[in-house]
Amino acid sequence: MLKKKKGLMLSLTVASSILLAAGCSSSTGGSESSGEKNNDLPAVGATIYKFDDNFMSYVRRAMETAADGKVNLMLNDSQNDQAKQIEQVDTLIAKGAKSLAINLVDPKAAQTIVDKAKAKDIPVIFFNKEPDKSVLEGYDKAYYVGTTSSESGVIQGELIAKAWEANKDKWDRNGDGKLQYVLLKGEPGHPDAEARTKYVVDTVKEKGIEVEELALDTGMWDATKATEKMDAWIAKYNDKIEFVIANNDGMALGAIASLEKAGYFSGDKFMPVVGVDAIPEALDMIENGKMVGTVLNDAKNQGAATVQLAANAANGKDVLDGTEWELDDSKAVRVPYIEITKDNIQVGKDAYK
Ligand code: GAL
Ligand code: CA
Repeated sequence: MLKKKKGLMLSLTVASSILLAAGCSSSTGGSESSGEKNNDLPAVGATIYKFDDNFMSYVRRAMETAADGKVNLMLNDSQNDQAKQIEQVDTLIAKGAKSLAINLVDPKAAQTIVDKAKAKDIPVIFFNKEPDKSVLEGYDKAYYVGTTSSESGVIQGELIAKAWEANKDKWDRNGDGKLQYVLLKGEPGHPDAEARTKYVVDTVKEKGIEVEELALDTGMWDATKATEKMDAWIAKYNDKIEFVIANNDGMALGAIASLEKAGYFSGDKFMPVVGVDAIPEALDMIENGKMVGTVLNDAKNQGAATVQLAANAANGKDVLDGTEWELDDSKAVRVPYIEITKDNIQVGKDAYK
């Protein structure tokens, strides 16, 4: 695990803009940010599980920036449909992709994609949804770029414990010394959703805080779904709820919309809400006091690392060539998570700039 040094990121950005400028002057003037028009560059075939995902839209942007002038990034929206993604992979291979960067719809489909790539000796960089270790072990040209999922749950749990200890006079509404929470879970079966759900609660308990789960259900990472869930929970539990834990910021924002309808965040009616990702909309909520904190999921570095590895693979180089990333023993680059509160909000802002 390794953090990218700021200076290096900067010089990479400068280098890629110089390359881009050079590419533009000699091309027919196509201004595709993905460089898709430049056929001289090696082709990287990529899929995003769905473009309509708040966090993934930032990863996508980072990928396009990193690809500029370096590779011809053929980027597909899999529209949350695994069958569609498999077809896209077939098409990308047929179009001559020299490497693949795959954000799975269903983590269980990894083997099918590896089988297709392996048959053509094409390297695969999975990102954001971690496949089973055995799938990566079964193909020497398969890698993963993402995070250590459990780390986000642990950091979120520590954040909750600290905030609760500092505010429990006000926040423990029924005065029973326990923290009554509702939890909005991401997509079931998604390694991040499973790990965050488990580790956040385990960590709060390890900090010596007694908890009671009023409700737990999936909001599928989605703000609108989270608003619907939260509406129902407020109707059912009303002021018994003392904390809202969300597996991502999108759902935290959805919960806040519901809480606002119910009169929270005006006068002295308050509800502590936490998320994960540190997307700009959530940072705004932290600044205006409607969110206690979040956990930075570094979209920029995950997107950049994915393209850097895929570009190296497409050029037949070692995937880490010219980068400062490291692979762990499961052939994964893991970008660290960081706790974000009002105190260090700038760290979140810088990461999503
Ligand atoms: C997670 C992220 C979520 C969602 C998900 C999609 O890492 O925290 O907001 O984007 O990935 O796979
Ligand atoms: Ca209580």
